[in-house]
Amino acid sequence: MDPKIVPSTLPADFANLGRDCQALERAGADRLQWDVMDGTYVPNLTFGPDVIAACRQVCELPFEVHVMADRPEDLLERYVKEAGCEVVICHPETLAMPHRTYQQIKDWDAKVGVALSPATPLAHVEDVMDLIDMILIMTVNPGFGGQSYLTSMEPKITRARLMIEASGRDIDLEVDGGIGPDTIAGAAAAGADVFISGSALWRYPSFAEGIDDLRERARAATAGGVDSAS
Ligand code: DX5
Repeated sequence: MDPKIVPSTLPADFANLGRDCQALERAGADRLQWDVMDGTYVPNLTFGPDVIAACRQVCELPFEVHVMADRPEDLLERYVKEAGCEVVICHPETLAMPHRTYQQIKDWDAKVGVALSPATPLAHVEDVMDLIDMILIMTVNPGFGGQSYLTSMEPKITRARLMIEASGRDIDLEVDGGIGPDTIAGAAAAGADVFISGSALWRYPSFAEGIDDLRERARAATAGGVDSAS
């Protein structure tokens, strides 16, 4: 599958979120990721469903919501039905009954993502591969943008790729954290096919240049071409 570039809105101008969503859409992003943080599970606080719903009105891109919140079950339906998020990504440690929550998300006709922090094992997805649509391998510890990519996660990315191939299901393998021109090739070569980029994307001269460059680097890495340090 062609690599997908999914900007995180975490570095966006919070005074002009709709404008930045439209600019990312024009620049060719595949989806947008909203990093929802509750100030408890992670020491940061970001978007409620109403904020995302407002941007839903001005942007056609598919939205995915990465929920970094304790016991988020009571809020998830609002992110789907009011904010129009098509993919709901949760950390299994935050859910009282993960399998039940994943079933509930599917009942809302949304897709299920499971986010695995660096110390969270792939065992959390072994018994739900029939339910899920995405595995998100965190290549930083959740909570903030601008952190350094953890190369040590690349073997985990590869193990996840092997699990997906063994399942025979069409499951996205997404990576999130420190993804930029110097790191995307390693993540792609390890087996990832969906790439979240926040601060590195905002450092390019334009969103379009950044999205094109990152996508090309991921393509070249999986075609066995680019030197990841180039
Ligand atoms: C961490 C966040 C970040 C964000 C991307 O909880 O999930 O990983 O999306 O941030 P960058 O690309 O700046 O590392």
